[in-house]
Amino acid sequence: MNRFAALLLITPVLASACSPSNAPQAGETNEASAPQWRTLDGAPPLVIAHRGASGLRPEHSQAAYQLALDLGADVIEPDLVMSSDGVLIVRHDPYLSSSTDIATRPEFADRRAEMMGQEDWWTPSFTAAELTTLTASQTMEDRDQSYNGQFPVLTFDQFLDFVAAEEERCACEIAIEPEVKAPAAFAALGLDPLPALIASLDAHDLNRAEAPVVIQSFDADFLERLNAQTDVPLAMLYAGPDAEGANAGGRSLEEIAQFADGIGAYKALLFTEGGESTGFVQDAHDLGLEVHVWTVRDDRAPVVGETVQEELRALYDEGVDGVFTDFPGTAVAVRDQMASE
Ligand code: G3P
Ligand code: CA
Repeated sequence: MNRFAALLLITPVLASACSPSNAPQAGETNEASAPQWRTLDGAPPLVIAHRGASGLRPEHSQAAYQLALDLGADVIEPDLVMSSDGVLIVRHDPYLSSSTDIATRPEFADRRAEMMGQEDWWTPSFTAAELTTLTASQTMEDRDQSYNGQFPVLTFDQFLDFVAAEEERCACEIAIEPEVKAPAAFAALGLDPLPALIASLDAHDLNRAEAPVVIQSFDADFLERLNAQTDVPLAMLYAGPDAEGANAGGRSLEEIAQFADGIGAYKALLFTEGGESTGFVQDAHDLGLEVHVWTVRDDRAPVVGETVQEELRALYDEGVDGVFTDFPGTAVAVRDQMASE
């Protein structure tokens, strides 16, 4: 059984072994039984390649996912939006100018339009066949642009086909953590992503509790609907109590635990401004919720510590169950270093 599914079945004995009540008291040691990792199940934290190895290749491209696996990522993440013909497309945003070559495609020039208060090209204006003629671009200007234009935009089914082919090649199981973006906005356009998601999972024999899949969303209502229709584990994304549209609709961790198996938390929620623990991970673990934090980036300032390595170490010390990162090789290296100490 894969780890995600096993987390749903975690025994109370193992869970309590990670709780403060089992910690050694002053003057006592129980090193033989103490778990090395403070994750919910005591297993090493997962390295989740955020949009693939997106720091090194254009995000959401097959090359980004291949490199992530080559660098040792445990999980790969596709974000999902909808095409005009109801197909899930692997993209972070419904607008296309920053992550594709669409601005250079004269045949699509007249489809530029205003939507959501912004002028751009939008995925609901294009069929899947049209979208997959586009190529992926590096979205961050200070990163390597030399791979732009080389890799096509993928549908979710093409992504799942790639995963299946890689699994056959490596004779191993590859975990995925898809995020459904803006489901309510797409549903309002008559493009509800839920049936498309279920259909793709069904087609790839992934619509089952034991499948190496976690579905994430910032939309609590969507996850509640999904929870009624699938046994696949679900993760509620959460940016904090004051984050507009990204605060689980004001739901408490206890309420989230009624329909989700994990929480995808903004990493800064784990630390005070002085770098002390806020207890967020422990609070979630006490409710049986895994915590996957986002997003660790080698080329951006850490929220704790002076370097990305210090940040990763602090996150792992907190007991996070997974880290989303644009640079999976670094997260693997820090985890390996800690495991060897
Ligand atoms: O899904 C975890 C993290 O990716 C959430 O942020 O905006 O990068 O999808 P975003
Ligand atoms: Ca995401």
